[in-house]
Amino acid sequence: MNSITILNLSSLKGEITVPGDKSISHRSIMLGAIANGVTTVCGFLRGEDNLATMAAFHSMGVQIDDDGQTLVIHGRGLHGLLEPSDVVDCGNSGTSIRLLTGLLAGQSFFSVLTGDQYLRKRPMKRVVEPLSRMGARILGRAKGSLAPLAISGGTLNAIGYESPVSSAQIKSAIMLAGLYADGDTSVREPSLSRDHSERMFGLFGASLETFHNGVTVKGGVELQGQEIRVPGDISSAAFFMVAALITPHSELLIRNVGVNPTRTGIIDVLRSMGGSIELLNEREESAEPVADILVRSSRLKGVRIAGNTVPRAIDEFPVICVAAACAEGTTSIRDARELRVKETDRIAAMAVNLRGMGVEVDECDDGMDITGVECLTGGVVESYGDHRIAMSLSVAGLVSADAVTVNDIDCVATSFPTFYSLLEQFRTGAA
Ligand code: S3P
Repeated sequence: MNSITILNLSSLKGEITVPGDKSISHRSIMLGAIANGVTTVCGFLRGEDNLATMAAFHSMGVQIDDDGQTLVIHGRGLHGLLEPSDVVDCGNSGTSIRLLTGLLAGQSFFSVLTGDQYLRKRPMKRVVEPLSRMGARILGRAKGSLAPLAISGGTLNAIGYESPVSSAQIKSAIMLAGLYADGDTSVREPSLSRDHSERMFGLFGASLETFHNGVTVKGGVELQGQEIRVPGDISSAAFFMVAALITPHSELLIRNVGVNPTRTGIIDVLRSMGGSIELLNEREESAEPVADILVRSSRLKGVRIAGNTVPRAIDEFPVICVAAACAEGTTSIRDARELRVKETDRIAAMAVNLRGMGVEVDECDDGMDITGVECLTGGVVESYGDHRIAMSLSVAGLVSADAVTVNDIDCVATSFPTFYSLLEQFRTGAA
């Protein structure tokens, strides 16, 4: 297990781009594979999570060519996937396993999905239960609530599902199953989670209707291959946004970032904390809003984050915790129980690590209170195998009094393989 030591940085100045959006990259392969004809994907994220999705479709007979720039996916149509001859390993990727469970439920073959030690602890009942209501036959450990999951695909019936949590993975799993169901399948969630599936389904010619906090998909409609441009991932940009805000004398332009309103909770939160963030050159590509983001160092203050903002910033809480630790006053995070079932328990992980850096943190079941300090102390911190914890703590190291050593950083490759080389550019002045 590798670790890294991060030293104080005097400023972040320049321009960067971040790798492609992870959620959109997963969906481009999945829909491309079951569409008719060829799908091309530019800007695809070659992180381990997305490569797991790509390998899964290879194992189901889908030809995917990659020249290092563009992916060319040779779609096999709605009913053209082949039975994989071995267990499909989703690695660390919750999106791969949950969306594939929905997709595989409607195939006419048997498949088994598993993942790494972290993924095998994450809750799967949330997709197994609604899919079972559609008639899917899925078995798993702990009464179907943990991977490995064994799926005996077959015919599905349409359902109307009220999801108890706002989760794009649950919604998308049901939408993918809905493509194979007899009739109209609807999902409604407490507040709208990221809507990349809805946008991409529309682009590929699926018959769907969106409504307040929900979507209806018509079964049996064939999809057509598309040309997809994947924007930079706002969840990856978030580390550099916070880095530029908390590091003095910084001015950073992050080009070509996806700014879908279901993902821009991070911008709203940081602006409400007093952060200077401007969106420039706003445009739309492949049905997704895109912009360049200009960030300048700012004095931050504590805020309360709760309600509908939470799903719109769900992956950014570890780095929001770092912003809060550097802000004046207390930041309260509530309604964020979902953070406890991410790649690790992100509430507990950030609380332990920030306390070790001299920050006062009070945990509660669905969130935490963080009181900012003048200067973080530094020290040795743990990622717990979670990429976003590792990157957030590395950002904290840029403004700590002493060096910060982050243990177990290999996980960063799941979503942002170039993170440390990009960070290094600010020391060498190459950005
Ligand atoms: C994702 C949905 C979110 C998010 C994850 C990616 C997706 O998970 O945390 O990183 O691509 O659908 P939940 O659906 O569990 O909130």
